[in-house]
Amino acid sequence: MAGGSAAAAPERETWTSSTGFILAAVGSAVGLGNIWRFPGVAYESGGGAFLIPYLVALLTAGIPILFLDYAVGHRYRGAAPLSYRRMARPAEALGWFQIVLSFVIAVYYAAVIAWSLSYFVFAFDLRWGEDTAAFFVGEYLQVGEPGISTTLVSGVAVPLVLVWAAVLVIIALGVTKGVQRVNIIFIPLLVLAFGGLVVRALTLPGAADGLNALFTPDWAALADPAVWIAAYSQIFFSLSIAFGIMVTYASYQRRRANMTSSGLVVAFANSSFEILAGIGVFATLGFLAHQQATTIDQLEGLSGPILSFVTFPAVISEMPGGAVFGAVFFGALVLAGFTSIISILLGVAASVQEKFGLTHRTAAVTVCVVCSVISIGLFSTTSGLIALDTVDQWANNVGIVVSAIAMTVLIVWVFRTAPVLRAHLNRVSTFRVGRVWVVLVGGLAPVVLTTMLVQRVRTLVTEGYEGYPAWYLLVFGWGTIGLVAVGALVLTLIPWRGRDDAGFRAWPELEEEQR
Ligand code: PHE
Repeated sequence: MAGGSAAAAPERETWTSSTGFILAAVGSAVGLGNIWRFPGVAYESGGGAFLIPYLVALLTAGIPILFLDYAVGHRYRGAAPLSYRRMARPAEALGWFQIVLSFVIAVYYAAVIAWSLSYFVFAFDLRWGEDTAAFFVGEYLQVGEPGISTTLVSGVAVPLVLVWAAVLVIIALGVTKGVQRVNIIFIPLLVLAFGGLVVRALTLPGAADGLNALFTPDWAALADPAVWIAAYSQIFFSLSIAFGIMVTYASYQRRRANMTSSGLVVAFANSSFEILAGIGVFATLGFLAHQQATTIDQLEGLSGPILSFVTFPAVISEMPGGAVFGAVFFGALVLAGFTSIISILLGVAASVQEKFGLTHRTAAVTVCVVCSVISIGLFSTTSGLIALDTVDQWANNVGIVVSAIAMTVLIVWVFRTAPVLRAHLNRVSTFRVGRVWVVLVGGLAPVVLTTMLVQRVRTLVTEGYEGYPAWYLLVFGWGTIGLVAVGALVLTLIPWRGRDDAGFRAWPELEEEQR
């Protein structure tokens, strides 16, 4: 290893093998997005026809930007702010934008994991009873009017504290002992559990109707820009890209590591899991329709939190052996969600650690404590569900798209680092990226994303969202984006206290020079 401080922190922890890295990256990608987001989004956006925009989004933006994230982190060897700073000083702000956005996501993502944990327990005696909607919104969440409430709901607060405590312990343990180890155990377990669930679902009466409902294409949907927006947003969220999280994960990968091939494995695994989840969920819904002697399109509540926490419990209650099915389903949600949230917190903690020159443990504890206090304060109150829905909408349809546009334009056009990053990837990987990669990342992606963003913002401004009051959307929707932008600016302006290696020389050039 090259001596001297110029060669990125030599003590930087690494994944112990490519398998460790791949499992961790799959753990980050496969999450609530695959299980509670994808099936509903696909169904609402043209069913089988959705697979076309989905695949187009995966190939034109998903995989190329995943490689971009990997290249930045692997070459510059830091969490997002430090990596971008080393690429070009002012780009540090982009790193913080992504990290603050991830922080926002973590705050509500934890709440959904906490609900899953509660429902895992409820499943054993089907505690949600007959009217699962009334149970979820009323008895469990005690949802009030959209607003700001300070009434804590203990049924949510307790599991939420448990989730944050577990996250804190894992992050404090670090990359190898904490994050990697959790993924090595949880990911195989998740695949087994979910695989079993799908097999069971497929043997239920009515399963085939469910699959038909999901996969029968509605070609007209392809002409609707909203469907394309949904596909791109789904891919970003699902692959955890443009959040700065994969930059951080790649920075912990050993120097000689096949980055692009790992990326293909991760992307393929994530999409396979997503489609598997779609099959499992819709086969189950087919059974529900069968029980109620109706058709899927007559059923309500097929997306978002309602799908998992209202519709699913209703099906589970009707199923022979429902308690086991329910426990496995909610257990799988907890496993999938947990391996994703620790990736976010690792990204945030590492960024803070590097900027402020803290030890890993201090950064981990500080970040997790701050995050958990906000999370508990906002989302275990009676206004939690509506706040969550609004923040999620803005973070994922506006925030992440802005982040991806900024990232591709800055890297390719402003700082012109794309050729360097491409050469870097090709030096370490067996799957080589051609010039077409630069064209996709610098040309197609920003154009498509900007078109989408304009559309989406226009709709949100003119039509609002879900009929929530305008002031509320201003505070929780646009406010979220404003907060992320201001947060990014402030964090960038604070003087750098940790080591930023002003004269940072990237490997492998460094080694070649010294030879
Ligand atoms: N990819 C995760 C999911 O599908 C969510 C996530 C988003 C994780 C951003 C990390 C960063 O649920």
